[in-house]
Amino acid sequence: MDYKTTKDSDLAYFKSFLTESNILTDKTTLEGYGKDHTEDLFFEPSLVLIPQLTQDVSKIMAYCHLHCIPVTPRGAGTGLSGGCLPVKKGIVLSLEKFNKILKIDPSNYQAIVEPGVINEHFQNEVQLQNMFYPPDPASKGSCTLGGNVAHSSGGPRCVKYGTTRDYILNLEVVLPTGEIIQTGANVLKNSTGYNLTQLMVGSEGTLGIITKITIKLLPFPAYNTLLLAAFDSALDACKCVPAILNAGIIPSALEFMDKRGVELSTKAHQITFDTEQGNAYLLIEVDAFTNENLMPQCEKIYEVLEKHNVKNILLAEDTATKEKFWKIRRSIGEVVKKLSIYKEEDTVVTRANLPELYDYISYLSNTYGFDCICYGHAGDGNLHVNILKLKMSDDQWNIELPKAIRLLFEKCKELGGTISGEHGIGLVQKPYLDVVFQPIHFQLMQGIKRTFDPHGILNPDKIFNM
Ligand code: LAC
Ligand code: ZN
Repeated sequence: MDYKTTKDSDLAYFKSFLTESNILTDKTTLEGYGKDHTEDLFFEPSLVLIPQLTQDVSKIMAYCHLHCIPVTPRGAGTGLSGGCLPVKKGIVLSLEKFNKILKIDPSNYQAIVEPGVINEHFQNEVQLQNMFYPPDPASKGSCTLGGNVAHSSGGPRCVKYGTTRDYILNLEVVLPTGEIIQTGANVLKNSTGYNLTQLMVGSEGTLGIITKITIKLLPFPAYNTLLLAAFDSALDACKCVPAILNAGIIPSALEFMDKRGVELSTKAHQITFDTEQGNAYLLIEVDAFTNENLMPQCEKIYEVLEKHNVKNILLAEDTATKEKFWKIRRSIGEVVKKLSIYKEEDTVVTRANLPELYDYISYLSNTYGFDCICYGHAGDGNLHVNILKLKMSDDQWNIELPKAIRLLFEKCKELGGTISGEHGIGLVQKPYLDVVFQPIHFQLMQGIKRTFDPHGILNPDKIFNM
């Protein structure tokens, strides 16, 4: 594509309908919008636009389509695959001021929100009306619902409640050409033509800009119990995961943490915790609408844990202990980042294959001499493998490690899985997409992309090349 850089005349056009505070051009600000939470990547945009109206997004897109200017949409910048980085320069279009909850509708168990609403804020607001929005990424305190839709983000509760995808009924989208569409209808059933809503979910901002989201809600399960089970053997912990579900329990979270992740996280946050209890941990939560339904679930889980050589089980009796255990788990990603240059792989396999995946990661780390920290959503077969650079040479890191990552992804495929469970492909996983997709997959996706975005201006160079 022959992309154009932004010129003074472009700026003059944007100034004709955006206020000055919504057009950012100073160097330091541009630098901030050139980063996200992915490794240490940086791509500076030429310009940041912060529209507040769908009509203004539409005008920006129509203009950029006409003039072949790249536009990269951005939520809170908490993504882990480089999806919101302006790799072709051009404009970063931030949705940060689309931050209103437009409607919470208890009679239909629905809400309509703008994409810049923070996930946790939304969860809290619907909970005030006894409703529940389950998707809870680790970054829930800062990530936005629009970004969550773009990636079909997950989180611990997916094992029982599914990912963002399962809660999206309808979207208002500005297409790359500037046209505005509703992708579906605000209903629970819809058998009307191709499902453009679900095509848009997980498309990582490459097909359109989401400006309004209709969300399905559930009744709020007010009671929960949290257990932290320590194992000597990480493999025993992994084997225990499918056994818990086979016992007829669907936990509301079933998370894995290796010893190193727990050590780092407790140390970084000065959390009192005996990290010598085990080499691996399962954090298991069950929820219910009544208190009486919790204990029977826990008893069954205890039985399964005992059969899998559990070494110690801690029951979080009070809110403070629950928060402490969750803090340990949720902080691992961010503390790894502070430790070393790292790569984050978001492997996912069928749940029962988790032990085999874990075993293979140990084999790869020995063979290729890398250190890694594993944690994640064991109940979904979704393991985050954080590979640390530490003292690896640049050659090992840049030349040898990609070979190991490719082998890792090939193993994921062999085990019925794929290369990303919830972080997306974006920029960093793009070189590996051919592990799971054949040429026909690329042709189909390229065809879809061209239909939506004939000039390839929207979030260029993400997921695959056009
Ligand atoms: C987590 C993020 C990294 O699960 O997905 O902590
Ligand atoms: Zn995760």
